[in-house]
Amino acid sequence: MRHLLSTQDLGRDEATALLDDAERFEQALTGREVRKLPTLRGRTVMTVFYENSTRTRVSFEVAGKWMSADVINVSASSSSVGKGESLRDTVKTLHAAGADALIVRHPASGAPAQIADWTTDSDGEGPAIINAGDGTHEHPTQALLDALTLRQRLGSLDGRRIAIVGDVVHSRVARSNAHLLSTLGAEVVLVAPPTLLPAGVGEWPVTVSGNLDAELPAVDAVMMLRVQAERMNGGFFPSPREYAVRFGLNDRRLAMLSDDAVVLHPGPMLRGMEIGWSVADSPKATVLDQVRNGVHVRMAVLFRLLVGSDSAGAQL
Ligand code: CP
Repeated sequence: MRHLLSTQDLGRDEATALLDDAERFEQALTGREVRKLPTLRGRTVMTVFYENSTRTRVSFEVAGKWMSADVINVSASSSSVGKGESLRDTVKTLHAAGADALIVRHPASGAPAQIADWTTDSDGEGPAIINAGDGTHEHPTQALLDALTLRQRLGSLDGRRIAIVGDVVHSRVARSNAHLLSTLGAEVVLVAPPTLLPAGVGEWPVTVSGNLDAELPAVDAVMMLRVQAERMNGGFFPSPREYAVRFGLNDRRLAMLSDDAVVLHPGPMLRGMEIGWSVADSPKATVLDQVRNGVHVRMAVLFRLLVGSDSAGAQL
C-alpha cells in the first residue's frame, strides 16, 4: 500500500488487518498515563484541507501525535491558495518542505489521486497520499472507522444487513461504505429517494429501496447520512420537510429496529432533519464511538503507509 485513495483498493484481508491494527493501537494506549508511542518519530505528516472538517482533521492530528510524528495542519483558507497558488504547486511545495504523508480533503472528486500522480517521481518515490474526503467520491478512513464500530457492536459483518439512508448522491461516505462493508461480507441496502441516488448506482454492490419503514425491522444497522445542502446548488427535492418525514430517523422509527441494531452517523449531524434529537443520543447510537475509533483507524493507516509492515502487532 503506497496510498489510501479508495476503499475499492482494499481486499478483505487488507481491510481486516487495518481494523485489527486499529484495535491493537487502542489496546496499546489504554490505561497509559502518557498516550505516546514512538512509532512515527522523525516522520512528518501534513493535513491539507480545502473543505471544513472537525472529526477527520482533528483525529488525524491526534493519531499522528500519539505516534510521535510531527504533524502540520495546512488549511487552504489561511494558506497561499488564497493568493491564487494552484493545487499542484501547493502539494509539491508541501512535499519539498518535508511531508512524508499528505492527508488531503478537497471538493473535487479525484483530487487525491491526481496529487499522488503529481508527487510521485520517476523512481516511484513520493509522499503517501491519504484521501480524507474528495468531493462526492470517497472517504475511505470514515468507512474503515464505521466498519470497526460495526464489528465491535455486531461481531462479524458477514451476512449482516446494513441500511445506508438519505442523501446518497452527494455522499462520499456512502460510496466508501457500500464497497468496504460489502467486501467485509455485509449486505448493503441504500434507502433514498430516486433524486438522491447517483447515476451509476447499479454498479455498486448494493440493493436499493425507497421505503425506510419497510427496511428498518430487518436491518442490523442503519447509517444515516448528512443532508449536504451545500452541494445542492440551492435546489432540494424532495423538500426538507418531506425528506425529514420520509427518510428521517425519528423516535417512532427507532422503535422499529431490533433490540441489537445500532445507528451510525458520520457527522456532522443535522438533528431534526435526518436524525431526531433524542435518537442521536440513544443507546443505539454509536456516534461518539465512531469518533474514538476514527483516531485508532487513522493510526493504523498511518502505520501501514509510513512503516510499511503488514501488522502493527510486532511493534506494540
Ligand atoms: N465525518 C466527517 O468527515 O466529519 P468532518 O467533516 O467533521 O471531518
